Amino acid sequence: MIWKNVVMIGSMTLLFSGCSQINSLVDKLPFASNDSSNNNQQTQQEEIPIDDPLSLESIFFNDIKEVDGKNVIQNSTNVMALVNKEFFFPADYVPDDLVKPDVAFSFKDIGTEKSLMRRDAAKALEIMFKDAAEYGIELYAVSGYRSYVRQKSLYDAEVERVGSEKAEQAVAIPGASEHQSGLAMDISSKSNRFYLNTAFANTPEGKWLKENAHRFGFILRYPKEKTAITNYMYEPWHFRYVGEKAARIMYEHNWTLEEYFNEVKKI
Ligand code: DAL
Ligand code: ZN
Repeated sequence: MIWKNVVMIGSMTLLFSGCSQINSLVDKLPFASNDSSNNNQQTQQEEIPIDDPLSLESIFFNDIKEVDGKNVIQNSTNVMALVNKEFFFPADYVPDDLVKPDVAFSFKDIGTEKSLMRRDAAKALEIMFKDAAEYGIELYAVSGYRSYVRQKSLYDAEVERVGSEKAEQAVAIPGASEHQSGLAMDISSKSNRFYLNTAFANTPEGKWLKENAHRFGFILRYPKEKTAITNYMYEPWHFRYVGEKAARIMYEHNWTLEEYFNEVKKI
């Protein structure tokens, strides 16, 4: 992730001509010249690559195609895929690197798809759970990957139970769930009796996750004060893997994934 910074080398060399430390730094630049007679006449503009945390390569942005009036993601394997009520996965998208993380689960039957995550996310989850344990925080994985078909049955059941308007605040319509990405995990604790509810936020485990998940590349995807942006109710249990760099930036700026994509520069 490289951002180009334009530096006025000629004027810099002139300006800092009395500072040997900076002069020797400038000497190391491939295009720098210490010939001051030349510097006096010439202002040379060059580009130095630096790592700008607020820039993001274009491959990490959604590549969208409109299909039947829906924005369908074409680069579904993108680890930063923005999946929400606006952007959908194709119904047939199944990640090809799903594995079962070596962590504690809240359920016995670990042969089910909900125990799976994509490889990198699974590895990060394992490290996060181990790190948490060192602080006496015992985490349990509750629900990971969900196929389109399973999301549809969960959604249909919720609509049946509470009606579509209420259902859509809590359960994504098929194709719009981060669980289909294989990059999300719902997490709970024994102290919360493994429930996925807002009470989890007040447990030591929920508090630890909120403040630490970013160190492992995860974001709290549906924060309490951002429901108008995410368009989902507060879910203190739902963590989404985006990679450490982006997760740290979102944590530090208190941004949702939607806000992050509004702020970063596409390069
Ligand atoms: N509960 C989240 C929004 C989902 O169904 O993906
Ligand atoms: Zn979830």
